Amino acid sequence: MTLVVYGKGGVGKSTMCAHLAMCFAREGRKVLLLGCDPKADTSLRLLGGKRPPTIVDMVTGLKGYRFQELAVRSRPGLDILETGGPQPGQGCGGRSVATLCQYLEEHARELSGYDTLIFDVLGDLVCGGFVAPLRFGFGRDVYIVSSEETASLFAANNIVRVAAEPYLQGVSVGGIIFNLRQNDARREVLEAFAARLGVPIAAVMLRDPAILDAEEDGVTVFDHKPGKRAAGRFAALAASIAARRGAVPGAKVRPMSSEEFQSFVRENRVSRPGPVCAGKKRNRA
Ligand SMILES: Nc1ncnc2c1ncn2[C@@H]1O[C@H](COP(=O)(O)OP(=O)(O)OP(=O)(O)O)[C@@H](O)[C@H]1O
Ligand SMILES: [Mg+2]
Repeated sequence: MTLVVYGKGGVGKSTMCAHLAMCFAREGRKVLLLGCDPKADTSLRLLGGKRPPTIVDMVTGLKGYRFQELAVRSRPGLDILETGGPQPGQGCGGRSVATLCQYLEEHARELSGYDTLIFDVLGDLVCGGFVAPLRFGFGRDVYIVSSEETASLFAANNIVRVAAEPYLQGVSVGGIIFNLRQNDARREVLEAFAARLGVPIAAVMLRDPAILDAEEDGVTVFDHKPGKRAAGRFAALAASIAARRGAVPGAKVRPMSSEEFQSFVRENRVSRPGPVCAGKKRNRA
């Protein structure tokens, strides 16, 4: 199983990827989590906040790391490989992702030791490098992380647009994971959005302070007592993804043009908040 996870910056991609990777590893799968972001932030919750060496360190430093040194073990059954990236203001992050894919192609034997790959990819698909995991044929199932906010939905629509490109034959959209900013966001808008694009909703994940707390301790909610409820939600998401319920071939999704997206936002009043029930606090998970 290979998941390629996209979404707007800061929407919760690395949070989802790290927790899904944990879920799959706990079930006995052999997971390789691939951070495809110059910030190399995928591993933060899985290595106690330590930064592992990256593919870009290897290429630029010519240090000749071996695969085993780059794919750092988080726990039994879960290794993490970070791509890294150029210094801010220099080079191209997307190109680093293409370098990662080349590296993976050259290490097919080591890769065959894993049964589950998860790519955590920066959402800027304007740069072709970020499509590399799909172009190289590593990933088939695209998952999109989005909040209920307009800018995030805009990025989600763009990702669906890429998945529909004929040159990416064989790619499917596994679903949208709505990771809410506000737990009282209007669900009917999210449902209308997914239905308009013709993609399933993989899950609606609640904002939960335990996730942030765990992150500050450099762990996932599975190793954090107050995170018990969030852990249950991640486990349910992992089970639904493993069952691959409702994945839609790229040829069948229906991305919106920019004008259609704008009409959708206007007609659905996307930024209007949901009703806050009297006496209830927002974002109680
Ligand atoms: N459901 C949630 N509840 C509470 N906090 C969350 C939730 N999801 C994500 N966060 C927090 O939001 C912040 C951003 O999440 P994350 O780093 O996963 O986003 P990202 O999409 O990977 O960002 P980037 O594009 O910068 O890599 C983190 O501090 C994370 O702990
Ligand atoms: Mg991230």
